[in-house]
Amino acid sequence: MPRPGPILIYSIYQSDLVRFQRLLAGALPDVAIACASTPEVAASHLDDAVILYGWGFPSDMLEQMPKLRWLQKMGAGVDDILQHWRCGRQVLLTRTDGALIAPRMVEYVLGAILDKSMRFDTARRQQDRRHWNYFEVGTIRGLTVGVAGLGAIGSMIAKALRALGARVVGWRRSPKHCALVDELFCGRDALAHFVAACDVIVLALPLTDETRKLFAGDLLSRCRPGAHVINVGRGGLIDESALADAIRKRVVGHATLDVLATEPLPPDHPFWDNPHITITPHVCGPLVPEDVVPHFLANYEAFASGRPLMNIIDIARQY
Ligand SMILES: NC(=O)c1ccc[n+]([C@@H]2O[C@H](COP(=O)([O-])OP(=O)(O)OC[C@H]3O[C@@H](n4cnc5c(N)ncnc54)[C@H](OP(=O)(O)O)[C@@H]3O)[C@@H](O)[C@H]2O)c1
Repeated sequence: MPRPGPILIYSIYQSDLVRFQRLLAGALPDVAIACASTPEVAASHLDDAVILYGWGFPSDMLEQMPKLRWLQKMGAGVDDILQHWRCGRQVLLTRTDGALIAPRMVEYVLGAILDKSMRFDTARRQQDRRHWNYFEVGTIRGLTVGVAGLGAIGSMIAKALRALGARVVGWRRSPKHCALVDELFCGRDALAHFVAACDVIVLALPLTDETRKLFAGDLLSRCRPGAHVINVGRGGLIDESALADAIRKRVVGHATLDVLATEPLPPDHPFWDNPHITITPHVCGPLVPEDVVPHFLANYEAFASGRPLMNIIDIARQY
């Protein structure tokens, strides 16, 4: 029985592509595997590919793949794909399990919180002036941290923060119990109460029709004065002009943003000059081929033998 294929691997990062190809070719020596990092290189493989393992491909590429049956997104978010999804039921859409990316994202969130609570910016300013002046630092143990989105990534963030002594509250869609949080808020009606309870709000949500620009002016105005907003989900979760306004009014004290509504952030974007915003270029959850390929291979074996795959996207729910 022939193994399912050909597989097309697509990544805009050429150096990653080589590693993805080596790992897949080593594990699936009898399967045809093609690689592309541009639409031009992909073009000659689109007619035949049955499986696409990809990240960053143009949205209209899927329409040129008549034999496509399974698409595994290399990353954990699928909002970019679902925005233009016209494949119907004959194509199965899966994603990389967020749990494989989450450990690094936990470190990012801890770093963002500690950077503020340890007052490293104050220390750097003093150092520039060769100035020794005692100041009091904060502690995670004194904070209530809210995690919006208690999926694979949010759960791991909640667990780490609680282990360090924070009071952790969570917000999710379904009223599913979560033992990792001290208090759970569920659904749209509870969101304002969730926001009002937090010193730090971590966004670990997918971008869907329900979550797009969810964090807008009315909600941000409910923040505790000086709240720290950390976004590791998607930029589109936040209404950026409302965030700038909330910062100007000091309702939000600081925002640490790994994801922005437009990426790369345009050079003339006002966020660049805002001292109360820390911007990182979508770095907190890198796709390390060695970390994520075993998940693809396990799903490949399930696909090949007709078993259910892991991390199937519910198209109607959008995550
Ligand atoms: N910055 C980066 O580098 C990076 C890296 C990886 C992932 N991400 C982002 O992180 C997101 C989350 O990943 P994940 O693996 O944790 O996803 P996940 O396991 O699917 O969890 C999603 C969570 O969001 C909640 N949620 C979804 N829609 C909601 C709504 N309308 N109202 C309230 N809660 C809602 C879900 O609630 P239920 O539990 O009730 O279903 C669930 O708890 C991804 O979608 C991606 O956009 C970013």
